[in-house]
Amino acid sequence: MSGLIPQHFIDDLIARADIVDVLSKRIDLKKAGKEFKAVCPFHNDKNPSLTISPLKGFYHCFSCGAHGTALGFLMEYENLNFVEAVESLASELGVEVPYENRSSPIKKNDDLFLLMDAIQKKFQNNLKNNAKAIRYLKKRGIDGKTAKKYKIGYAEKGWSNILDNFGTTDSDIKSLLKLGLIIKKENNKGYYDRFRDRIIFPIRDNRGRFIGFGGRIFEGDQPKYLNSPETPIFHKGRELYGLYECQKSMRVIEKVIVVEGYMDVIGLSQNGVEYSVASMGTATTDDHFTRLFRLSDTICFCFDGDQAGYLAAWRALENSLSHLKDGRQIKFVFLPDGEDPDSYIRKKSTGNFEKLLNNGKDLSDFMIQRTSEDIDLKSVDGRARLAERVKPLVNRIQRGIFKELIIEKLSALVGLSAKKLEQSISEDKIANKRKSSINYAPRRKNLNTKKDSPSVIKKSISLILNYPEAVKEISNIEFVNYEKPGIKILIKLLKNIKDEPNMNTAALIERWREDDEGKHLSKLAINSFPKNQEFNAKEELNNCLAQIAKNFYNERINSLIKKQADNELTSDEKVELKEIIHKNKIKR
Ligand code: UTP
Ligand code: MN
Repeated sequence: MSGLIPQHFIDDLIARADIVDVLSKRIDLKKAGKEFKAVCPFHNDKNPSLTISPLKGFYHCFSCGAHGTALGFLMEYENLNFVEAVESLASELGVEVPYENRSSPIKKNDDLFLLMDAIQKKFQNNLKNNAKAIRYLKKRGIDGKTAKKYKIGYAEKGWSNILDNFGTTDSDIKSLLKLGLIIKKENNKGYYDRFRDRIIFPIRDNRGRFIGFGGRIFEGDQPKYLNSPETPIFHKGRELYGLYECQKSMRVIEKVIVVEGYMDVIGLSQNGVEYSVASMGTATTDDHFTRLFRLSDTICFCFDGDQAGYLAAWRALENSLSHLKDGRQIKFVFLPDGEDPDSYIRKKSTGNFEKLLNNGKDLSDFMIQRTSEDIDLKSVDGRARLAERVKPLVNRIQRGIFKELIIEKLSALVGLSAKKLEQSISEDKIANKRKSSINYAPRRKNLNTKKDSPSVIKKSISLILNYPEAVKEISNIEFVNYEKPGIKILIKLLKNIKDEPNMNTAALIERWREDDEGKHLSKLAINSFPKNQEFNAKEELNNCLAQIAKNFYNERINSLIKKQADNELTSDEKVELKEIIHKNKIKR
């Protein structure tokens, strides 16, 4: 996408953008020496863990690991895509983005958002004039204020209300089709509306834009709900119903409740619980967890107490493991038979609902309960089986207090000391890793190379990103033919700076945003180098590059010598071997 905006424009934009300026418009910064500090907006915190370096044009949170450039910040904080972030930054600096190609994809989606907006308004208006719909909402205990908050609407009876009102040109019909609001007739002659005679729940993204609809029938025919299909702007697996409204009504969100349905979110809000979101009947995905933990450190799943509810909770638990770290908490609440959050809070009061939340099951307890359900823990066999079952689960959790706690709980049950159990769990992890490396990536024979060569490469990249000026005096690169992970990036970075000596960290990183290999580059820009007087970046970089060259020559010599032993050296290779041995003064 960034191909549509000239690279030099992006480089220039980042060079001119003052990261302190951009961030301070959005969060409070405090000066601390050459850098600035702030409370990180990407996780729940009271301490100023976010460091902003104006020199590098880069921010980094020591607590949650969030990091990036001014552009990256805009993308994360305001949930913009790359082009939108460039647009936003450019307008802050008062410059216009020179698109090379006028029909940029963002323009196209803008049309879709506009149309969604207009149709949402129409649905909401319809509701005012429809006694049946109003009666239905009243019957379900929803008042006007809540209906307004969630912009609830009504899709009229009839087959072509949307089509007739919004599909007057070919291009509008195309857009309506893309949005799944009209459907092509089977005989291919014309279209009909998807949503007819239904209560409409508009689904918003976390910037508040309307991206889809859920439509409920009044009663009778199944299925109860009809939803927008996957469209260019709506991906069910990424969105959570009610997230925007939750963000808007609360400044500090102590915990967020995940429920199953639209009506649960709305019913809870009606009764004063404004911190719930709905997964809209799908599994809780990684994307969901990222969004949820951005909102709050505590997530509480509140599902039906039936088989389906337990299964959904278990899936959520499995997907949550890699997102757990110290300070984060996940709880599970199962409602009594036949109730959902909406019906429960109405029958039993807000206080009782909150009590239920407070008595939720900890993730570790739910994990153990579920894995030991059909196991006799009194037998040695049974305990061993439990240990085997939980190993792969525990292995997905990052190291930390949380993991230790689970291991402790388990060890008491299994009858092993925590230390022994932990050892056995990590052995399992190593064994699995070995297995997968045998399966997917056969190791090359050890060619007598320095074991640390990949980390020297990483260190060089990190040095360059942190101290681009250290590159200035490096003249020739000796390892252009070295085939090692990271070498291509390293060489390209060296060349980038040679071509444009004034690029800072941020500009270097933004060049790699779309690159598959380079997209993790920004992690290496996080400074881990000593800040004392003796530290000399130029010298360090020189040493690293020399080490890489040495490793490269050693490997090359080894492979040529091996070929020589098999009598397979070409005459060119013979010359090459002599030359490198001479150049490196390596006695063989
Ligand atoms: P529920 O049946 O729990 O819905 O389904 P609900 O929100 O409690 O609705 P009411 O109280 O009966 O009016 C949970 C969610 O699963 C999706 C919807 O997102 C719903 O909110 N669902 C359910 C569908 O998409 N289609 C269906 O037919 C049913
Ligand atoms: Mn319900």
